[in-house]
Amino acid sequence: MSVSIVYHGHACFSVVADGKHILIDPFLTGNPLAKIGPDEVQADFILISHGHGDHVGDAVAIAKRTGALVICNYEILNWLDKQGVKNVHPLHIGGGNRFPFGRCKMTIAHHGSGLPDGSYGGNPGGFLLKLNAGKTIYFSGDTALTYDMKWLADDNVDVAILCIGDNFTMGPDDAIKAVKLIEPKTVIPCHFGTWPYIEVDAEDFQARCHAETSARCVLLHPEESFDLA
Ligand code: NI
Ligand code: MN
Repeated sequence: MSVSIVYHGHACFSVVADGKHILIDPFLTGNPLAKIGPDEVQADFILISHGHGDHVGDAVAIAKRTGALVICNYEILNWLDKQGVKNVHPLHIGGGNRFPFGRCKMTIAHHGSGLPDGSYGGNPGGFLLKLNAGKTIYFSGDTALTYDMKWLADDNVDVAILCIGDNFTMGPDDAIKAVKLIEPKTVIPCHFGTWPYIEVDAEDFQARCHAETSARCVLLHPEESFDLA
């Protein structure tokens, strides 16, 4: 029962659990950090946190090529449906369901969710994955710090993937507060360094995590992976 998390740059990750690839926020085309393209990334499932272009990304092309099941909110699902993506499962904030890899719940995020063509994208979210492989992963999506994150401490989160880039989302100061609320074993920061607006000192964030919280912080370069023991 192995689980690994692969970083593709910005907020795009693959969770590989028991050989199944769960691709999150597949922004590869136009992603300055990405080292792989939408034609090569593997996907059995695609999770989309919200409608912004740096998260929906290449979802349509990858879904059509792979036939992966797309899990997202109902509004984004309708937008995908109009583009011929039919293998879809709608969730919404606070709701979860069982999938072949485990349980996936859509969590609260404070942000926007407009789609690239101006379509209404509903509310933004994050994801809490309780994998059959016995590990729990929280992906914050783009969000402000919210005290609701404190409930996640009940879920014994193994890895929290948190936005830290500031400007559009939590910055390092608020992300440290999020770590204290969530109490994960490991933190993987994301959504920083892609563009000048979201340049932050990730190594300083890592040092602060180690000094101020009980979590270990892992910094990944694109295509590096973190294996959960
Ligand atoms: Ni966004
Ligand atoms: Mn974003």
